[in-house]
Amino acid sequence: MRKVHIVGNWKMNQSVADINAFTETILTMNNLSCEAWIAPQAIHLSMLQSKSDTIKVGAQNCSNHNSGAFTGELSPESLKDLGAHFVIIGHSERRAIFKEDDLLLNQKVLKALENKLKVILCVGETLQERESGDFKSILKSQLLNGLKDISATDKENIIIAYEPVWAIGTGKVASPEQAQEVHAFLRGELKAVEALEAQATPILYGGSVKPANIQGLLENEDIDGALVGGASLKGESFKELCELSK
Ligand code: PGA
Repeated sequence: MRKVHIVGNWKMNQSVADINAFTETILTMNNLSCEAWIAPQAIHLSMLQSKSDTIKVGAQNCSNHNSGAFTGELSPESLKDLGAHFVIIGHSERRAIFKEDDLLLNQKVLKALENKLKVILCVGETLQERESGDFKSILKSQLLNGLKDISATDKENIIIAYEPVWAIGTGKVASPEQAQEVHAFLRGELKAVEALEAQATPILYGGSVKPANIQGLLENEDIDGALVGGASLKGESFKELCELSK
């Protein structure tokens, strides 16, 4: 009942020429059984969208306001206007580099939902937090604080991404067992969120996913797809990830 989602997070990468090469390759992607989504740099959203009917486009971040004196920010209302389907909120790079905390992230989640954008809320622990032993309580607070005050009408617009920080861009993927254990834990915690149906909410894994390891991850009951950085940049690799997700 949960559809597999393969979501590319391009971060601050991809030139116009790279995007053209990417879309040439994925034009041959047909009859996909998964949802194939890409979050390019926001300035490339319309361009990418105009080049492919197969993939849905979204943003890597948005403001907690629709408009106003917030120089440099990305309005969720304008993202929706431009055709964005979803927004990633709380990526570990936003949390660590831009110091976004749970309170702000929750405001962003609510604002994005108000604008009918699907939200991918990211949670994840650092290596130090994992080694401290009690990393699950950190994940729990990221999850429940991020989803505070959402309403039942939003339940189909929430996706969770578990991205252990130590696995992002490091080549150190969590083992399928490690990922499944955390996904099952998160699904259990989602039961406390009255607005959501825990069993129907997709939980994606992210952190060094590539064609060579995606199948082992997706075989697990609670892993419903992947949020992919590096391996989503090349059309061939993204296509392969989608095709392996049947
Ligand atoms: P990675 O990035 O696949 O390059 O590890 C994942 C992410 O940051 O979402």
